[in-house]
Amino acid sequence: MSETAKLRIGDNEIDLPVLVGTEGNRVMDITKLYAQTSCITLDEGYANTGSTTSQITYVDGEKGILRYRGYPIEELAERCDFTETAYLLIHGELPSADELEDFRRNVRLHTLLHEGMKTIFAGFPRDAHPMAILSSVVGALAIYYEDALRPNDPDHQELAIYRLLAKMPTIAAFGYKQSIGQPFIYPENHLTYCQNFLQMMFAVPSDRYEADPDFVDALNLLLILHADHGQNCSTSTVRMVGSSTVNLYSAISAGICALWGALHGGANEACINMLEKINNDGASIGKFVDRAKDPNDPFRLMGFGHRVYKNYDPRAKIIKGVCDRLLKKHSVASPIFDLARELEEVALSDPYFIDRKLYPNVDFYSGIIYRIMGIPKQMFTVLFALGRLPGWIAHWREMHDAPGGMRIHRPRQLYTGSSQRKFVPLIKR
Ligand code: SDX
Repeated sequence: MSETAKLRIGDNEIDLPVLVGTEGNRVMDITKLYAQTSCITLDEGYANTGSTTSQITYVDGEKGILRYRGYPIEELAERCDFTETAYLLIHGELPSADELEDFRRNVRLHTLLHEGMKTIFAGFPRDAHPMAILSSVVGALAIYYEDALRPNDPDHQELAIYRLLAKMPTIAAFGYKQSIGQPFIYPENHLTYCQNFLQMMFAVPSDRYEADPDFVDALNLLLILHADHGQNCSTSTVRMVGSSTVNLYSAISAGICALWGALHGGANEACINMLEKINNDGASIGKFVDRAKDPNDPFRLMGFGHRVYKNYDPRAKIIKGVCDRLLKKHSVASPIFDLARELEEVALSDPYFIDRKLYPNVDFYSGIIYRIMGIPKQMFTVLFALGRLPGWIAHWREMHDAPGGMRIHRPRQLYTGSSQRKFVPLIKR
């Protein structure tokens, strides 16, 4: 017998169907609320509102669980590579050996950019932020590849997906090379996804380059851990923008812009800046923890807290472990990593953070690994975007393939502005 919730508004009492998810989570379905009551709900920031049903990623914030298509993130991190994980997220199943090779081959086919796109990079100032470059050039794919823009055409969809997976690393690396005045390094398709990106980032025409296998493994892991996370801000942006039936390139470009924000993916860059500031300040960590707790001080501990996780972010746990191992193996001292661990310890023993269930999130330690790999901090969120791309694509496809058909996203509002008033001509104002 399916459960219902009763809602009484004035003399009107209605039953709301209660839907139950795979893991037993219950939601009240208010799809017919306005039709039955002429009332809507209000939920700033959507903390209590589900935008859709989804079969892609399960996040249990209380228990710190994260699964892609049912597979625990810990297992995928251990046993998959990023391309395999991308296939899983986009197609819903782990690929067979043939399916995976076919997927890899199709991605490899599209790693080059249209030569005309190189002039876009030349137009950017040297200090352009790499996220602004990424969102601009990904948006420009809709100009240079206008032969596959129809979102409802399966062939166009497939081609756009391969192009994005293949070209985003190239765009990211070209943007970096442009910013340091070095020549673009073209993709080499005999390399793996992560080897290729690192060689495009760090190789120079005059020297042979071989990516450190530890860094290739670390990048692979980080991309997997960032690959999807349900209806987060940037994924919801991709869905919102994509719901207008604009092409996939433009929807992904919008997602990149949303991810750039310091409250979202931009937190990895903001966190390193915060740790460097604390380190250079020489003051006690306590001073910054007190600032983070002060409601009148805008300072927040970047890389801490989460809308959904009220437990340790499982991704942060894995990344912290990799930091430790990489630093030890490369006998690199990292005062920033020591500081981060000390900061975590102080915060997690402080009632302010305990009461609010604020823990390190995916962005707290990731920047430390990127630094060890020689990735400049303005590129940290670009790497988050490279990881999140298959998740964005999977959600965009899931929305387009929704059984009942896709509807444009158009929230309502509660109007609290002026009631009708008479126009006042300029001479009387
Ligand atoms: C990502 O959604 C996702 O899944 C995102 C993500 C993904 O994979 O897509 O996981 C990636 O974006 C991780 C989050 C990265 N952002 C940061 O690290 C920025 C710092 N964190 C905060 O700004 C905050 O925790 C958010 C933005 C992450 C969550 O904000 P919420 O859910 O709106 O929580 P809130 O701001 O209402 O905070 C609740 C309370 C407040 O105190 P009170 O009003 O109760 O007194 O906790 C406090 C906040 O002031 N608080 C913090 C804090 N985070 C929350 N206080 C100090 N430092 C912090 N970092």
